Amino acid sequence: MTGPGRPTGTVRARPASELRLSAARATAAAPVRPAAAAGARGAAQARPAPVEIRAADVDLTVDLGRGLVLPNPIMVASGTFGYGVEYGEVVDVNRLGGICCKGTTLEPRIGNPTPRVTETPGGMLNSIGLQNPGVDAVIERYAAAWATWRAPVLVNVAGESVRDYVEVTRRLDGVPGVAGIELNISCPNVGKGGFQFAIDAGAAGEVTAAVRRVTDLPLLVKLSPNVADIRPIARAIADAGADALTAINTLSGIAVAPGRSRPLLGNIYGGLSGPALKPVALRIVYEAAQVVKIPVIAIGGVTELADVLDFLAVGAVAVQVGTAIFADPTLPVRLADELAAECGRNGLTTYRDLIGTARPARAGQPSVKGVEYRP
Ligand SMILES: Cc1cc2nc3c(=O)[nH]c(=O)nc-3n(C[C@H](O)[C@H](O)[C@H](O)COP(=O)(O)O)c2cc1C
Repeated sequence: MTGPGRPTGTVRARPASELRLSAARATAAAPVRPAAAAGARGAAQARPAPVEIRAADVDLTVDLGRGLVLPNPIMVASGTFGYGVEYGEVVDVNRLGGICCKGTTLEPRIGNPTPRVTETPGGMLNSIGLQNPGVDAVIERYAAAWATWRAPVLVNVAGESVRDYVEVTRRLDGVPGVAGIELNISCPNVGKGGFQFAIDAGAAGEVTAAVRRVTDLPLLVKLSPNVADIRPIARAIADAGADALTAINTLSGIAVAPGRSRPLLGNIYGGLSGPALKPVALRIVYEAAQVVKIPVIAIGGVTELADVLDFLAVGAVAVQVGTAIFADPTLPVRLADELAAECGRNGLTTYRDLIGTARPARAGQPSVKGVEYRP
């Protein structure tokens, strides 16, 4: 179809795999310019070919503070890798950057009514409903194994009140094998009419501060995309003492059942994840990274190295892989290898040179105008 402004002539349809590859190449080319040199944009000077570095010599470590150092920036996202032990036969967990385990609550939860998942174009909807055996059983069953792994395990903590989050964290604090906490604040706050903690800067800050008071463990707080403006929420969480932000959780959606007499999921609402989520995640990481000083870890639709490079470019220090694990559990380890190889080819001794290359020259400038999209 040709329309106004579209180039005419023969346009060869390109297979999706080819499009993905060329996107990867375009993205991979940019990071060769370290963030500090980003001002020289557009100066097409001939650069000497980079001196290749062995992938094994590239520094992939990520220091998140409070003693938490990830061996590499490729983690696995909560709810998509169980408690890690389930994948022991298929994945060398010691080669992961870190593991965020399934959301864990004070009491056991059986989860939402079925159906709980459905495929969507470019992703999936899930409404698992935080099915888990409760914090005490999680500690008893899994912590001893975690303590033997090189990859740090962060427990994803969920609750329905500030008290819930505090009590779950208290029980995890000091348990060998628990390397940190990731707060899933996309949960209804029963004390505040069921509104999620994550959609209100006050509630997000309050729960972060309360958890901070009871633990010295590294504390990551996970942002929700279901908000109009992420910046005040990101700031409130950072000011309340979080060590890092993780972004993003799923985007709220529904599907319609066959016959069209009702919504498909037993819970009606589900969370959209997978490649369809990536542009939203990129935007939120881009905006959040400009308003906080703590590190931001990106999540949303990572399926290949180009996605990792894109998230680093907008300011993430690490990424989590979620839905893509269901198709290929070995992907995160492969991405870590590919990232090291990519750095080596470009003569970079550390992947950190790839961070922030697509951020605005003047920090904070575009975000003061708010969300930039105009229909
Ligand atoms: C089946 C499923 C279960 C999930 N469970 C949790 C959870 O318990 N806690 C949480 O914080 N996020 C949970 N998530 C969200 C993911 O951790 C991640 O933020 C989201 O899926 C986006 O990443 P992706 O597009 O790579 O999947 C879940 C996602 C899926 C698909």
